[in-house]
Amino acid sequence: MTQATRVLVVDDSASTREVLERNLRSEGHDVTTCSDVRTALGVLARGKIDLVVTDLRMPGADGMELVRHVRDNHRETGVIMVTGFATVGGAVSAMREGVDDYLPKPFSDDELRAAVSSCLDKVRLRRDIEPAGTVEPPRGLIGWSEPMQHVYSLIARASAVRVPVLITGESGTGKELVARAIHYQVPNEPGPFLAVNCAAIPEALIESELFGHAKGAFTGATGTREGFFVAADGGTLFLDEVAELAPAAQAKLLRVLQEKVVQPVGSDKTRATNVRIVAATNRDLELMARDGDFREDLFFRLHVLPIQIPPLRERGEDVVRLFRHFLAQAAEHSSIPTPRVTDAALRAMQRYSWPGNVRELQNVVQRLLVFADAGVIDSVDLPSVMRYTSPVSRQVAGVAVGDPVSLKELEGAHIRAVLASVDGNKTKAASILGIDRKSLRSKLA
Ligand SMILES: Nc1ncnc2c1ncn2[C@@H]1O[C@H](COP(=O)(O)OP(=O)(O)OP(=O)(O)O)[C@@H](O)[C@H]1O
Ligand SMILES: [Mg+2]
Repeated sequence: MTQATRVLVVDDSASTREVLERNLRSEGHDVTTCSDVRTALGVLARGKIDLVVTDLRMPGADGMELVRHVRDNHRETGVIMVTGFATVGGAVSAMREGVDDYLPKPFSDDELRAAVSSCLDKVRLRRDIEPAGTVEPPRGLIGWSEPMQHVYSLIARASAVRVPVLITGESGTGKELVARAIHYQVPNEPGPFLAVNCAAIPEALIESELFGHAKGAFTGATGTREGFFVAADGGTLFLDEVAELAPAAQAKLLRVLQEKVVQPVGSDKTRATNVRIVAATNRDLELMARDGDFREDLFFRLHVLPIQIPPLRERGEDVVRLFRHFLAQAAEHSSIPTPRVTDAALRAMQRYSWPGNVRELQNVVQRLLVFADAGVIDSVDLPSVMRYTSPVSRQVAGVAVGDPVSLKELEGAHIRAVLASVDGNKTKAASILGIDRKSLRSKLA
């Protein structure tokens, strides 16, 4: 949006209209005001509006009706809802209806400015047209399959617009790699890329790690600490395993996303930050939010640009491309010639379901290189679990391979393969297998 942004303000209170208009004008926006929804619909019908700032309760039609109209007819237009009847529940249901942001009255000039600026980022995001044709993989990523091309175009969009990104995908699909690609695709990104594993930091420390602390904020806080948000200023903060974030830290993170300020633990001062947030999880965060296991308002703030990474089994030929890439790399690393791979081995790989995704594939390559004789990798060299296919998958693949095996053998082989793919991490293996740790332990025994 190089020209002035066109903003429509809808509020029945003349004084609120005036405050909004003055503030938005001073930011260089082109502002139209109306006192009711019916007049607003007329303005929307007459010309392009980039952003609607509307009250919720007004005589006649209420703000939600206007929101629904905008969502149905002007998909790209941003919507900020202003209301005196703010409750978290109200904010969340408004966001479910497609409100981009929510501003409780009374709001400060800074809060208004922050809300408008992140809302306009979203508008820009919606207007960015999908790049046509094939998209080159960003550096570090291998694969040309269609679902990955879609991921690449989302990476390009994400790096062009600094909105929060939420990366989801099974374990080992490349979430961290994608997060890095978003950051490093920006030509002159001034700040660093910092990764924080939210599950790895003890709950008592997470807030001070992320937001910093003042001297004496708690026992042991002998100095001030700036925290990841300040350290990543101007760059990207990767919040890995964001679903594991403790409730208090979730509340603070929400505030950073809403107001673009951080408040260190034990300090009454806030500090402005400009950090691109890229969060990742292998859990269904939307479901967790609906079930009350994760703040729903935070979920809405994080998943502005969702990127879902497909599992390896949905990437077709990419399995073979990745395999060849890792094989050549590992062979070079060990200074041996790259082994030849038989067609039977490649077929078995493509049929396999790869529960541990790319990481499992990397591990398989490592093992093959150690055990494959005579510079050839054949299907018999593959881990047993990859050679067996269930009757169902045989049907799907239209082939019959391997000797019949019992369910128990198949289960055992599968469990071992999954465990190997996650480096023996039982929690991860259990989650991939869809069983709890206790059942996994008894099956292993
Ligand atoms: N498309 C790809 N091209 C090349 N390497 C890849 C690709 N996807 C993943 N990898 C490699 O696979 C491994 C796993 O990737 P990564 O750590 O990004 O996965 P993840 O989704 O973050 O996993 P987890 O859920 O366990 O945290 C890494 O070594 C990464 O370099
Ligand atoms: Mg990861």
